[in-house]
Amino acid sequence: MKFRKICVLTSGGDAPGMNACVRAVTRAANARGVQVMGSLGGYRGMIHDEFVDLTNRAVSNKIQLSGTFIYSDRCLEFKEEAGMQKAIAVLKSHEIDGVVAIGGDGTFRGATDLSQRGIPTIGIPGTIDNDITASDNTIGFDTAMQSVVDDVDKLRDTCESHARCNVVEVMGRGAGDITLNTAIATGAVAAVIPECEFDEEATIEKMIRLRREGKRSFLIIVSEAFPEVGPALVKKITSVTKELAEKEGNDRLWIESKFCRMAHIVRGGSPSLADRVLATKMGVRAVDELLAGNSDLVVVEREGKITTCGIGWSQVLDRMYKGTLKEGMLDAYTPEQIAEMQKFIEEKKETFRTTYAMLNELAN
Ligand code: F6P
Repeated sequence: MKFRKICVLTSGGDAPGMNACVRAVTRAANARGVQVMGSLGGYRGMIHDEFVDLTNRAVSNKIQLSGTFIYSDRCLEFKEEAGMQKAIAVLKSHEIDGVVAIGGDGTFRGATDLSQRGIPTIGIPGTIDNDITASDNTIGFDTAMQSVVDDVDKLRDTCESHARCNVVEVMGRGAGDITLNTAIATGAVAAVIPECEFDEEATIEKMIRLRREGKRSFLIIVSEAFPEVGPALVKKITSVTKELAEKEGNDRLWIESKFCRMAHIVRGGSPSLADRVLATKMGVRAVDELLAGNSDLVVVEREGKITTCGIGWSQVLDRMYKGTLKEGMLDAYTPEQIAEMQKFIEEKKETFRTTYAMLNELAN
C-alpha cells in the first residue's frame, strides 16, 4: 500500500517528550514523501474534524517544549462504536491512510480499535507512569522523575533545617516506578509502592533509631496509588514520636512531619535528553512500521533497543503483571508465548523486589 498521508495524535495524560515524538513522526514521514496531519486533542480531533497540518516547519522549535502542542484528551466518545465510525469517516475524507497514536494503555485500546476497522495504527508509549510493561521506558518517565527529584531536594533543604520529615506523594497511577526510583535518588528513608509490602511500624522504629543517632531530616515517597497513606503516615509519625519525646523528656525525638502532594506539577517541564532521544527513535520507528504495512503494534524499548510488539500482547502482559487477567485472555497464545510473558513479568517483579530491598538497606 502506498501511504499518502498519516495522522499523529497524543492522547491521555500529557508527558514531556510528546512534542519531540510528534516532531520525529512528522519529519520522518515527510522525508519519506508522506504528509502528516495532527489530530487535535487526541481521538477527539478525528471525531470533530479538528486537525492541523504538520509540515517540517510546523514542528520547528517544539522538541524542547513540554505538554503537547497538538493537545490531549481522554475522549469518551471514541470508546463508543458510533464515535469510532465517525472518526474513521473523517479520516477517510482526508485520505489519511494510517495513524500514529502516542499515549498510554487507553490510547492503545483506541489504536487497536482503529486497526481492527481497517485503519493501520501504531502506538507509542507516552506516559510519565512507565506502566507499559512491554517497554523498559515510556516517553516522559525520565523527565517526571527528575522533576520529582528537583522538588524533593528542595523539601530536604527545609526538612534538614527544621529536623522534620516530609512525606511526598507522587504520580504514577498504579505503578511504583516513579516512586521507587525517586526514593532512591533523594535518599528517602522509605517508599510506599504497590509492588512491594511497606512495613510502617519498622519504618517508624528505624526513623526513631536514626534520630537517636543524630539524623535530622527524613523523606518518605508514597505512590499516588495510596492516597490515604501519606496523610495518615504524617499523623502517625508525628504522634508516635511526640509521645516518645514526652515520655523520655527528650524533645529531639519528636519528628514533626509534613505532607506534600506533587500531583500534576511533575507532568510539566522541558523534556530531558533521554526523553527527547527516546521520543525521536520511537517516532521514526512508528513511521517505518506503518510504511512497511504493519498495524496494531506498539513501539517499545527493550534493553536499550527500539523494537515492537503486538498491542494485544502488550495489554495482556500489563494485565498479567497487575494480576487483572480475565478468563480467555490467554486463549490466543501458545504455551511458549505464555511462558515468555511469565518470564518477562517475573524478571520485572524481581527487579522491583531487589531495588526495594536496596533502598531499605541503604536508608540507614
Ligand atoms: O497517566 C498519567 C497521569 O498523570 C497519572 O500519573 C495520574 O494518575 C493521572 O494521569 C492523572 O490524570 P488527570 O490528568 O486526568 O488528572
